[in-house]
Amino acid sequence: MTVSSPTLQELLARRVPGHALERPFYVSHEIYERDLDHIFYREWLYAMPACQLAKAGSYVTMRVGAYEVIIVRGGDGEIRAFHNTCRHRGSIICKAHEGQVAKLVCPYHQWTYELDGRLLWANDMGADFDASKHGLKSVELRNLEGLLYICLSATPPDFEPFARLARPYLEVHELKDAKVAHSSTIVEKGNWKLVWENNRECYHCSSNHPSLCRSFSLDPEVAGVAADGSVSARLQAHFDRCEAAGAPARFRLAGDGQYRLARMPLLEGAVSYTLDGKPAVKKNLGRVALPDAGTLMMFHYPGAWGHFLPDHSLTFRFTPIGPTETEVTTTWLVHKDAVEGADYDLKRLTEVWIATNDEDRAIVEANQQGIFSPAYVPGPYSPGQESGVAQFVDWYAHWMERALNPVQVAAE
Ligand code: FES
Ligand SMILES: [Fe+2]
Repeated sequence: MTVSSPTLQELLARRVPGHALERPFYVSHEIYERDLDHIFYREWLYAMPACQLAKAGSYVTMRVGAYEVIIVRGGDGEIRAFHNTCRHRGSIICKAHEGQVAKLVCPYHQWTYELDGRLLWANDMGADFDASKHGLKSVELRNLEGLLYICLSATPPDFEPFARLARPYLEVHELKDAKVAHSSTIVEKGNWKLVWENNRECYHCSSNHPSLCRSFSLDPEVAGVAADGSVSARLQAHFDRCEAAGAPARFRLAGDGQYRLARMPLLEGAVSYTLDGKPAVKKNLGRVALPDAGTLMMFHYPGAWGHFLPDHSLTFRFTPIGPTETEVTTTWLVHKDAVEGADYDLKRLTEVWIATNDEDRAIVEANQQGIFSPAYVPGPYSPGQESGVAQFVDWYAHWMERALNPVQVAAE
């Protein structure tokens, strides 16, 4: 089907709040392209933990829609991001997901770039060739307490409001002292919005996540958002205990709903995401002194969420790679001095979320399959269980409305 700009506006205008979106939002190539143009190509996107780039020449590549990006640590220790397209005839320069290089060398004709993006060498380009005009195109990058964010736009939005809010919550987790214990990348055959919607509720957890349910609370307040922003006395008491112990905890949601931070309790008796609820790592990452502080849950639309626990941290990155395909990369972070086999067992550390991710992949793919049917009609969200899903969909719809009709919204 063809969805022109007015039609997308009509779809947004007739959206029924508290209900799932109509089918084109999840299947249409045109709306997918609009999502990329107005959201993923404009906003700050979580890329990876800085510690993954251990030394000069360490690089990681990532794809966002049509873009390919290289993130690399330079000889001066600085981490920079570049478009992964050669300034000669455009070849991909780094083909692998990650690696270690002395220089960035294009495999096609061996144009050779310094790790800071300058073109160092290009064979036989003639006397008039100016290498200084053919450096790699840079991509904006920020380091937020050890988490790297990139922005594909040449005029990025202000990163500071998010950074200011998140910094004290993250700082106590000391991710500068982390190392990557494990990383997994899976592709979910579902639209990126379905991946988010599934993430923003635990209505599905009891029947789908036996491992996660050993430690993660099914209390809908943990995943959701109260309409009036209130929290229960029980949750407030947990926030107060954490904050008294020096770990920022209270629920904070951006005014436009784009990001949220809250340190949520795990099940009574559980302190980490393990099958027995006991710590996964003996040597803590960070200085959260309260063993049952639970998990700092941070999401930042459109690209990532994270769980930050007293003993280890987890980041989850989403990148859409097609209208009905989304790549999900999960990274487990432990203290850099924690020794595998002595301080942690890798299977024990990773098994809950490896299982949970695979269960979520199957859920999202089944959801997508059902939505492909012309018989699909958007159903209502549970007010008690799916307030977080409604919050995501409202954010998305309002974001797109503003992007498509900025003057009208500005005049309201
Ligand atoms: S395309 Fe890269 S060197 Fe020719
Ligand atoms: Fe799930």
